[in-house]
Amino acid sequence: MAAARKSMHGEWSSRWIFILAATGSAVGLGNIWRFPYVTGENGGGAFVLVYLACVAFVGIPILAAEILLGRRGRQSPINTMRVLADDEGLSSRWAYVGWMGVVAGFLILSFYSVVAGWSLAYIFYVAGGVFNDATIADSQGEFHQLTGSVARLTLWHAAFMAMTMFVVARGVSGGLEKAVKLLMPALFSILLVIVGYSLTTGDAAAGLRYLFEPDFSKINGATILAALGQAFFSLSLGMGSIMVYGSYLPKDVSIAQTSIIVGCADTVVALLAGIAIFPIVFGYGLEPGQGPGLVFITLTIAFGHMPGGQFFGALFFILLTVAAWTSAISILEPVVAWLVESARWSRLKASLIGGVSAWLLGIGSLLSFNYWEDFTPGGRNFFDWAEFISTTILLPLGGMLVAIFAGWRLSLASSMDEFGTGPSVGYRTWLGLILFVAPLGVAIVFAEGTGLRRAVGSFLAAVSTALFS
Ligand code: TRP
Repeated sequence: MAAARKSMHGEWSSRWIFILAATGSAVGLGNIWRFPYVTGENGGGAFVLVYLACVAFVGIPILAAEILLGRRGRQSPINTMRVLADDEGLSSRWAYVGWMGVVAGFLILSFYSVVAGWSLAYIFYVAGGVFNDATIADSQGEFHQLTGSVARLTLWHAAFMAMTMFVVARGVSGGLEKAVKLLMPALFSILLVIVGYSLTTGDAAAGLRYLFEPDFSKINGATILAALGQAFFSLSLGMGSIMVYGSYLPKDVSIAQTSIIVGCADTVVALLAGIAIFPIVFGYGLEPGQGPGLVFITLTIAFGHMPGGQFFGALFFILLTVAAWTSAISILEPVVAWLVESARWSRLKASLIGGVSAWLLGIGSLLSFNYWEDFTPGGRNFFDWAEFISTTILLPLGGMLVAIFAGWRLSLASSMDEFGTGPSVGYRTWLGLILFVAPLGVAIVFAEGTGLRRAVGSFLAAVSTALFS
Protein backbone atom coordinates (compact mmCIF):
# COMPACT_ATOMS: atom_id res chain seq x y z
CA MET A 1 0.00 0.00 0.00
CA ALA A 2 2.78 2.39 0.89
CA ALA A 3 4.58 1.49 -2.29
CA ALA A 4 1.66 2.60 -4.40
CA ARG A 5 1.27 6.01 -2.80
CA LYS A 6 1.83 9.07 -4.97
CA SER A 7 2.37 12.66 -3.97
CA MET A 8 -0.34 15.07 -5.06
CA HIS A 9 2.29 17.80 -5.31
CA GLY A 10 4.45 16.16 -7.98
CA GLU A 11 7.80 14.40 -8.09
CA TRP A 12 11.45 15.34 -8.73
CA SER A 13 12.39 14.56 -12.29
CA SER A 14 15.54 12.63 -11.33
CA ARG A 15 17.81 11.52 -8.53
CA TRP A 16 20.23 14.26 -9.46
CA ILE A 17 17.56 16.93 -9.12
CA PHE A 18 16.67 15.62 -5.69
CA ILE A 19 20.30 15.77 -4.63
CA LEU A 20 20.51 19.35 -5.85
CA ALA A 21 17.28 20.32 -4.15
CA ALA A 22 18.20 18.68 -0.86
CA THR A 23 21.67 20.21 -1.04
CA GLY A 24 20.02 23.51 -1.89
CA SER A 25 17.94 23.15 1.23
CA ALA A 26 20.90 22.18 3.38
CA VAL A 27 23.41 24.69 2.07
CA GLY A 28 22.43 28.18 3.07
CA LEU A 29 22.94 30.77 5.75
CA GLY A 30 23.51 27.89 8.15
CA ASN A 31 26.81 27.09 6.49
CA ILE A 32 28.14 30.48 5.58
CA TRP A 33 26.63 32.82 8.16
CA ARG A 34 25.82 30.63 11.15
CA PHE A 35 28.57 27.99 11.18
CA PRO A 36 31.48 30.46 11.39
CA TYR A 37 29.92 32.67 14.02
CA VAL A 38 28.72 29.82 16.23
CA THR A 39 32.17 28.27 15.92
CA GLY A 40 33.61 31.61 16.97
CA GLU A 41 31.29 31.84 19.95
CA ASN A 42 32.19 28.32 21.04
CA GLY A 43 35.93 28.54 20.87
CA GLY A 44 36.91 26.98 17.52
CA GLY A 45 38.53 23.60 16.87
CA ALA A 46 36.96 21.45 19.55
CA PHE A 47 33.53 22.70 18.57
CA VAL A 48 34.24 21.85 14.92
CA LEU A 49 35.27 18.33 15.91
CA VAL A 50 32.11 17.78 17.94
CA TYR A 51 30.12 19.23 15.07
CA LEU A 52 31.62 16.74 12.62
CA ALA A 53 30.80 13.87 14.96
CA CYS A 54 27.21 15.13 15.25
CA VAL A 55 26.87 15.25 11.47
CA ALA A 56 28.29 11.77 10.94
CA PHE A 57 26.63 9.83 13.72
CA VAL A 58 23.39 11.67 14.27
CA GLY A 59 22.78 14.02 11.34
CA ILE A 60 23.27 11.79 8.31
CA PRO A 61 21.32 8.85 9.79
CA ILE A 62 18.41 11.15 10.62
CA LEU A 63 18.66 12.71 7.17
CA ALA A 64 18.19 9.22 5.73
CA ALA A 65 15.31 8.56 8.14
CA GLU A 66 13.51 11.74 7.09
CA ILE A 67 13.84 10.92 3.41
CA LEU A 68 12.65 7.39 4.11
CA LEU A 69 9.58 8.48 6.05
CA GLY A 70 8.74 11.21 3.55
CA ARG A 71 8.95 8.91 0.58
CA ARG A 72 6.85 6.27 2.28
CA GLY A 73 4.16 8.72 3.37
CA ARG A 74 4.22 10.89 0.24
CA GLN A 75 2.60 13.84 1.99
CA SER A 76 3.38 16.86 4.13
CA PRO A 77 5.21 15.91 7.35
CA ILE A 78 2.06 16.16 9.47
CA ASN A 79 0.06 13.87 7.21
CA THR A 80 3.02 11.61 6.49
CA MET A 81 3.48 10.93 10.19
CA ARG A 82 -0.22 10.33 10.53
CA VAL A 83 -0.56 7.82 7.66
CA LEU A 84 2.63 5.99 8.57
CA ALA A 85 1.50 5.67 12.17
CA ASP A 86 -1.81 4.43 10.84
CA ASP A 87 -0.09 1.88 8.52
CA GLU A 88 1.77 0.48 11.49
CA GLY A 89 -1.21 0.56 13.83
CA LEU A 90 0.29 3.28 16.03
CA SER A 91 -1.19 6.33 17.71
CA SER A 92 -2.13 9.20 15.42
CA ARG A 93 -0.43 11.44 17.96
CA TRP A 94 2.77 10.88 15.97
CA ALA A 95 1.42 13.66 13.78
CA TYR A 96 2.49 16.04 16.58
CA VAL A 97 6.04 15.58 15.35
CA GLY A 98 4.88 17.28 12.18
CA TRP A 99 3.17 20.02 14.15
CA MET A 100 6.28 20.68 16.15
CA GLY A 101 8.07 21.05 12.84
CA VAL A 102 5.57 23.64 11.71
CA VAL A 103 6.22 25.73 14.83
CA ALA A 104 9.98 25.37 14.41
CA GLY A 105 9.66 26.24 10.73
CA PHE A 106 7.82 29.49 11.39
CA LEU A 107 10.36 30.53 13.97
CA ILE A 108 13.29 29.68 11.71
CA LEU A 109 11.86 31.27 8.59
CA SER A 110 11.10 34.45 10.53
CA PHE A 111 14.69 35.22 11.48
CA TYR A 112 16.18 33.48 8.46
CA SER A 113 14.49 35.95 6.16
CA VAL A 114 15.81 38.90 8.18
CA VAL A 115 19.40 37.69 7.80
CA ALA A 116 18.91 36.77 4.15
CA GLY A 117 17.67 40.34 3.76
CA TRP A 118 21.08 41.56 4.95
CA SER A 119 22.70 39.46 2.27
CA LEU A 120 20.35 40.91 -0.33
CA ALA A 121 21.20 44.45 0.78
CA TYR A 122 24.92 43.70 0.69
CA ILE A 123 24.78 42.82 -3.00
CA PHE A 124 24.01 46.44 -3.70
CA TYR A 125 26.39 47.90 -1.13
CA VAL A 126 29.35 45.90 -2.37
CA ALA A 127 28.56 46.43 -6.03
CA GLY A 128 28.25 50.16 -5.35
CA GLY A 129 31.80 50.24 -3.98
CA VAL A 130 30.86 51.01 -0.39
CA PHE A 131 33.62 48.76 0.91
CA ASN A 132 36.46 49.80 -1.37
CA ASP A 133 39.54 50.15 0.87
CA ALA A 134 37.30 49.75 3.91
CA THR A 135 38.83 49.63 7.36
CA ILE A 136 37.43 47.45 10.13
CA ALA A 137 35.65 50.48 11.51
CA ASP A 138 34.07 51.20 8.11
CA SER A 139 32.91 47.66 7.73
CA GLN A 140 31.47 47.50 11.23
CA GLY A 141 29.90 50.91 10.79
CA GLU A 142 28.18 49.87 7.60
CA PHE A 143 26.78 46.74 9.21
CA HIS A 144 25.46 48.65 12.19
CA GLN A 145 23.99 51.27 9.98
CA LEU A 146 21.97 48.60 8.22
CA THR A 147 20.89 46.79 11.35
CA GLY A 148 20.11 50.09 13.02
CA SER A 149 17.61 51.09 10.36
CA VAL A 150 14.21 49.52 10.90
CA ALA A 151 12.95 50.80 7.57
CA ARG A 152 15.78 49.27 5.56
CA LEU A 153 15.65 45.98 7.45
CA THR A 154 11.92 45.69 6.98
CA LEU A 155 12.20 46.34 3.29
CA TRP A 156 14.93 43.74 2.65
CA HIS A 157 13.19 41.23 4.88
CA ALA A 158 9.99 41.77 2.87
CA ALA A 159 11.83 41.48 -0.44
CA PHE A 160 13.39 38.19 0.53
CA MET A 161 10.16 36.75 1.87
CA ALA A 162 8.41 37.75 -1.35
CA MET A 163 11.05 35.85 -3.36
CA THR A 164 10.49 32.79 -1.20
CA MET A 165 6.71 32.87 -1.47
CA PHE A 166 6.99 33.33 -5.22
CA VAL A 167 8.92 30.11 -5.78
CA VAL A 168 6.92 28.04 -3.33
CA ALA A 169 3.70 29.21 -4.93
CA ARG A 170 4.94 27.91 -8.29
CA GLY A 171 5.49 24.42 -7.02
CA VAL A 172 7.99 21.63 -7.11
CA SER A 173 9.25 21.40 -10.64
CA GLY A 174 8.24 24.81 -11.94
CA GLY A 175 10.00 26.76 -9.22
CA LEU A 176 12.41 24.73 -7.18
CA GLU A 177 14.25 22.71 -9.76
CA LYS A 178 15.16 25.62 -11.99
CA ALA A 179 16.66 27.64 -9.18
CA VAL A 180 19.05 25.03 -7.86
CA LYS A 181 20.52 23.60 -11.03
CA LEU A 182 22.84 26.41 -11.96
CA LEU A 183 23.30 28.26 -8.75
CA MET A 184 24.69 25.66 -6.38
CA PRO A 185 27.78 24.91 -8.49
CA ALA A 186 28.35 28.64 -8.93
CA LEU A 187 28.27 29.23 -5.18
CA PHE A 188 30.80 26.50 -4.65
CA SER A 189 33.21 28.01 -7.19
CA ILE A 190 33.07 31.53 -5.82
CA LEU A 191 33.61 30.20 -2.33
CA LEU A 192 36.82 28.57 -3.53
CA VAL A 193 38.01 31.90 -4.94
CA ILE A 194 37.44 33.59 -1.59
CA VAL A 195 39.17 30.76 0.25
CA GLY A 196 42.19 31.24 -1.99
CA TYR A 197 42.25 34.94 -1.32
CA SER A 198 41.80 34.56 2.39
CA LEU A 199 44.52 31.96 2.75
CA THR A 200 47.05 34.03 0.82
CA THR A 201 46.35 37.42 2.36
CA GLY A 202 44.92 36.71 5.81
CA ASP A 203 46.63 34.98 8.71
CA ALA A 204 46.18 31.47 7.31
CA ALA A 205 48.10 29.74 10.08
CA ALA A 206 46.11 31.33 12.88
CA GLY A 207 42.82 30.81 11.08
CA LEU A 208 43.43 27.15 10.37
CA ARG A 209 44.75 26.52 13.84
CA TYR A 210 41.65 28.09 15.29
CA LEU A 211 39.39 25.90 13.16
CA PHE A 212 41.20 22.61 13.36
CA GLU A 213 43.22 22.53 16.57
CA PRO A 214 40.86 21.33 19.26
CA ASP A 215 41.16 22.86 22.70
CA PHE A 216 39.06 20.51 24.78
CA SER A 217 38.93 22.84 27.75
CA LYS A 218 36.43 24.85 25.72
CA ILE A 219 33.98 21.96 25.54
CA ASN A 220 31.05 21.61 27.90
CA GLY A 221 27.43 20.51 27.76
CA ALA A 222 26.29 23.80 26.29
CA THR A 223 28.85 23.80 23.47
CA ILE A 224 28.00 20.21 22.56
CA LEU A 225 24.33 21.12 22.47
CA ALA A 226 25.18 24.09 20.26
CA ALA A 227 27.09 21.78 17.90
CA LEU A 228 24.18 19.39 17.74
CA GLY A 229 21.74 22.22 17.06
CA GLN A 230 24.03 23.54 14.34
CA ALA A 231 24.19 20.09 12.73
CA PHE A 232 20.41 19.91 12.63
CA PHE A 233 20.09 23.46 11.36
CA SER A 234 22.69 23.03 8.67
CA LEU A 235 21.35 19.71 7.41
CA SER A 236 17.76 21.06 7.48
CA LEU A 237 16.68 18.34 9.90
CA GLY A 238 14.10 18.05 12.61
CA MET A 239 11.29 20.12 11.15
CA GLY A 240 10.22 18.38 7.97
CA SER A 241 12.16 20.12 5.18
CA ILE A 242 13.98 16.99 4.16
CA MET A 243 10.93 14.85 4.88
CA VAL A 244 8.78 16.87 2.52
CA TYR A 245 11.50 16.80 -0.14
CA GLY A 246 11.74 13.04 0.37
CA SER A 247 8.03 12.79 -0.33
CA TYR A 248 8.72 13.95 -3.91
CA LEU A 249 11.54 11.43 -4.41
CA PRO A 250 11.12 8.72 -7.05
CA LYS A 251 10.93 5.22 -5.63
CA ASP A 252 14.05 3.74 -7.22
CA VAL A 253 16.57 6.21 -5.80
CA SER A 254 19.03 5.02 -3.13
CA ILE A 255 18.38 6.73 0.18
CA ALA A 256 21.72 5.82 1.71
CA GLN A 257 23.75 7.20 -1.14
CA THR A 258 21.86 10.44 -1.48
CA SER A 259 21.96 11.12 2.27
CA ILE A 260 25.70 10.71 2.36
CA ILE A 261 26.22 12.94 -0.66
CA VAL A 262 24.01 15.70 0.75
CA GLY A 263 25.58 15.44 4.21
CA CYS A 264 29.11 15.65 2.86
CA ALA A 265 28.39 18.50 0.45
CA ASP A 266 26.85 20.51 3.27
CA THR A 267 29.81 19.90 5.55
CA VAL A 268 32.36 20.81 2.92
CA VAL A 269 30.63 24.14 2.30
CA ALA A 270 30.55 24.94 6.01
CA LEU A 271 34.25 24.15 6.41
CA LEU A 272 35.11 26.21 3.33
CA ALA A 273 33.20 29.13 4.80
CA GLY A 274 35.22 28.76 7.98
CA ILE A 275 38.47 28.66 6.00
CA ALA A 276 37.37 31.76 4.09
CA ILE A 277 36.55 33.71 7.20
CA PHE A 278 38.94 32.92 10.05
CA PRO A 279 42.23 33.84 8.34
CA ILE A 280 40.71 37.27 7.74
CA VAL A 281 39.44 37.47 11.30
CA PHE A 282 42.92 36.90 12.69
CA GLY A 283 44.74 38.79 9.95
CA TYR A 284 42.79 41.91 10.89
CA GLY A 285 42.70 41.31 14.62
CA LEU A 286 38.94 40.88 14.71
CA GLU A 287 37.00 39.14 17.45
CA PRO A 288 35.91 35.59 16.40
CA GLY A 289 33.11 35.52 18.96
CA GLN A 290 31.36 38.70 17.82
CA GLY A 291 28.14 36.98 16.80
CA PRO A 292 25.76 37.27 13.86
CA GLY A 293 27.58 40.13 12.12
CA LEU A 294 30.80 38.11 11.69
CA VAL A 295 30.56 37.15 8.01
CA PHE A 296 29.23 40.50 6.92
CA ILE A 297 31.99 42.38 8.69
CA THR A 298 34.95 40.15 7.82
CA LEU A 299 34.34 39.26 4.20
CA THR A 300 33.55 42.79 3.15
CA ILE A 301 36.99 43.86 4.37
CA ALA A 302 38.49 41.21 2.10
CA PHE A 303 36.36 42.33 -0.83
CA GLY A 304 37.32 45.93 -0.19
CA HIS A 305 40.98 45.11 -0.72
CA MET A 306 41.17 42.34 -3.28
CA PRO A 307 41.53 43.07 -6.98
CA GLY A 308 38.10 42.86 -8.56
CA GLY A 309 36.59 42.84 -5.09
CA GLN A 310 33.58 44.86 -6.11
CA PHE A 311 32.71 42.22 -8.67
CA PHE A 312 33.57 39.14 -6.62
CA GLY A 313 31.93 40.59 -3.57
CA ALA A 314 28.69 41.33 -5.33
CA LEU A 315 28.78 37.89 -6.88
CA PHE A 316 29.36 36.33 -3.48
CA PHE A 317 26.35 38.02 -1.92
CA ILE A 318 24.22 37.14 -4.92
CA LEU A 319 25.12 33.51 -4.42
CA LEU A 320 24.67 33.66 -0.66
CA THR A 321 21.22 35.12 -1.23
CA VAL A 322 20.42 32.34 -3.65
CA ALA A 323 21.68 29.70 -1.23
CA ALA A 324 19.47 31.24 1.44
CA TRP A 325 16.62 31.33 -1.03
CA THR A 326 16.78 27.62 -1.87
CA SER A 327 16.86 26.93 1.87
CA ALA A 328 14.02 29.25 2.81
CA ILE A 329 11.87 27.58 0.18
CA SER A 330 12.36 24.27 1.93
CA ILE A 331 11.41 25.81 5.27
CA LEU A 332 8.12 27.11 3.89
CA GLU A 333 7.29 24.01 1.83
CA PRO A 334 6.16 21.64 4.63
CA VAL A 335 3.45 23.96 5.91
CA VAL A 336 2.32 24.89 2.41
CA ALA A 337 2.07 21.23 1.42
CA TRP A 338 0.00 20.63 4.54
CA LEU A 339 -2.35 23.56 3.86
CA VAL A 340 -2.86 22.37 0.30
CA GLU A 341 -3.61 18.83 1.43
CA SER A 342 -5.72 19.51 4.45
CA ALA A 343 -7.32 22.91 3.98
CA ARG A 344 -7.57 22.45 0.19
CA TRP A 345 -6.04 25.86 -0.34
CA SER A 346 -4.29 26.73 -3.58
CA ARG A 347 -0.49 26.79 -3.42
CA LEU A 348 -0.64 30.52 -3.98
CA LYS A 349 -2.92 31.19 -1.05
CA ALA A 350 -1.01 28.82 1.23
CA SER A 351 2.36 30.35 0.31
CA LEU A 352 1.08 33.87 0.80
CA ILE A 353 -0.50 33.27 4.17
CA GLY A 354 2.39 31.13 5.44
CA GLY A 355 5.02 33.58 4.23
CA VAL A 356 3.30 36.70 5.51
CA SER A 357 2.83 35.15 8.97
CA ALA A 358 6.51 34.28 9.18
CA TRP A 359 7.36 37.76 7.94
CA LEU A 360 5.32 39.35 10.73
CA LEU A 361 7.03 37.19 13.32
CA GLY A 362 10.36 38.23 11.81
CA ILE A 363 9.69 41.86 12.72
CA GLY A 364 10.45 40.86 16.31
CA SER A 365 13.89 39.60 15.28
CA LEU A 366 14.53 42.64 13.19
CA LEU A 367 13.81 44.95 16.12
CA SER A 368 16.26 43.00 18.26
CA PHE A 369 19.09 44.78 16.46
CA ASN A 370 17.83 48.25 17.26
CA TYR A 371 14.80 49.29 19.38
CA TRP A 372 14.62 46.05 21.30
CA GLU A 373 18.36 45.58 21.59
CA ASP A 374 18.24 45.94 25.35
CA PHE A 375 15.06 43.98 25.85
CA THR A 376 16.68 40.73 26.88
CA PRO A 377 14.50 38.68 29.20
CA GLY A 378 16.48 35.68 30.41
CA GLY A 379 19.66 37.04 28.81
CA ARG A 380 18.43 36.77 25.23
CA ASN A 381 16.79 39.22 22.89
CA PHE A 382 13.88 38.23 20.64
CA PHE A 383 16.15 37.12 17.81
CA ASP A 384 18.29 35.01 20.14
CA TRP A 385 15.21 33.41 21.65
CA ALA A 386 13.69 32.56 18.28
CA GLU A 387 16.99 31.04 17.22
CA PHE A 388 17.55 29.21 20.49
CA ILE A 389 14.07 27.73 20.84
CA SER A 390 13.89 26.56 17.25
CA THR A 391 17.45 25.46 16.58
CA THR A 392 18.72 24.25 19.90
CA ILE A 393 15.49 22.86 21.36
CA LEU A 394 12.88 22.01 18.72
CA LEU A 395 15.14 20.67 15.96
CA PRO A 396 17.04 18.13 18.09
CA LEU A 397 13.79 17.11 19.73
CA GLY A 398 12.06 16.69 16.36
CA GLY A 399 15.04 14.76 15.05
CA MET A 400 15.06 12.47 18.05
CA LEU A 401 11.38 11.67 17.57
CA VAL A 402 11.98 10.96 13.89
CA ALA A 403 14.78 8.57 14.86
CA ILE A 404 12.61 6.85 17.44
CA PHE A 405 9.76 6.51 14.99
CA ALA A 406 11.89 5.25 12.10
CA GLY A 407 13.94 2.91 14.28
CA TRP A 408 11.63 1.66 16.99
CA ARG A 409 8.07 2.10 15.74
CA LEU A 410 8.22 1.53 12.01
CA SER A 411 8.42 -2.19 11.31
CA LEU A 412 11.76 -3.45 10.03
CA ALA A 413 9.98 -4.80 6.99
CA SER A 414 8.79 -1.30 6.13
CA SER A 415 12.09 0.44 6.67
CA MET A 416 13.99 -2.23 4.78
CA ASP A 417 11.56 -2.10 1.90
CA GLU A 418 11.97 1.66 1.65
CA PHE A 419 15.75 1.55 2.12
CA GLY A 420 15.73 -0.81 -0.83
CA THR A 421 18.93 -2.77 -0.25
CA GLY A 422 17.73 -5.74 1.77
CA PRO A 423 19.56 -6.46 5.04
CA SER A 424 22.80 -5.01 3.68
CA VAL A 425 25.69 -3.63 5.70
CA GLY A 426 24.50 -0.14 4.86
CA TYR A 427 21.03 -0.84 6.15
CA ARG A 428 22.28 -2.43 9.32
CA THR A 429 24.71 0.40 10.01
CA TRP A 430 21.92 2.90 9.53
CA LEU A 431 19.61 0.89 11.74
CA GLY A 432 22.16 0.70 14.54
CA LEU A 433 22.74 4.43 14.40
CA ILE A 434 19.05 5.28 14.24
CA LEU A 435 18.04 2.82 16.97
CA PHE A 436 20.67 3.70 19.53
CA VAL A 437 23.22 6.35 18.69
CA ALA A 438 20.94 9.08 17.37
CA PRO A 439 18.16 9.05 19.99
CA LEU A 440 20.48 8.44 22.94
CA GLY A 441 23.01 10.93 21.67
CA VAL A 442 20.39 13.63 21.39
CA ALA A 443 18.87 12.75 24.76
CA ILE A 444 22.21 12.87 26.58
CA VAL A 445 23.43 16.03 24.91
CA PHE A 446 20.10 17.60 25.57
CA ALA A 447 20.01 16.69 29.23
CA GLU A 448 23.58 17.85 29.66
CA GLY A 449 23.36 21.06 27.65
CA THR A 450 20.17 22.33 29.18
CA GLY A 451 21.29 21.50 32.70
CA LEU A 452 18.51 18.93 32.91
CA ARG A 453 20.80 16.15 34.05
CA ARG A 454 22.11 18.18 36.93
CA ALA A 455 18.60 19.27 37.83
CA VAL A 456 17.39 15.66 37.84
CA GLY A 457 20.50 14.66 39.75
CA SER A 458 19.99 17.18 42.51
CA PHE A 459 16.31 16.30 42.69
CA LEU A 460 17.15 12.62 43.14
CA ALA A 461 19.83 13.49 45.67
CA ALA A 462 17.34 15.58 47.62
CA VAL A 463 14.77 12.78 47.54
CA SER A 464 17.26 10.20 48.70
CA THR A 465 18.50 12.43 51.51
CA ALA A 466 14.92 13.02 52.58
CA LEU A 467 14.21 9.30 52.55
CA PHE A 468 17.37 7.89 54.00
CA SER A 469 18.81 10.37 56.42
N1 TRP B 1 19.82 24.20 6.28
C1 TRP B 1 19.56 25.55 5.88
C2 TRP B 1 20.82 26.36 6.08
O1 TRP B 1 21.82 25.83 6.49
C3 TRP B 1 18.38 26.16 6.59
C4 TRP B 1 17.20 25.25 6.63
C5 TRP B 1 16.44 24.84 5.60
C6 TRP B 1 16.71 24.63 7.78
N2 TRP B 1 15.48 23.99 6.02
C7 TRP B 1 15.61 23.83 7.36
C8 TRP B 1 17.08 24.65 9.10
C9 TRP B 1 14.93 23.06 8.28
C10 TRP B 1 16.38 23.88 10.01
C11 TRP B 1 15.33 23.07 9.60
O2 TRP B 1 20.84 27.52 5.82
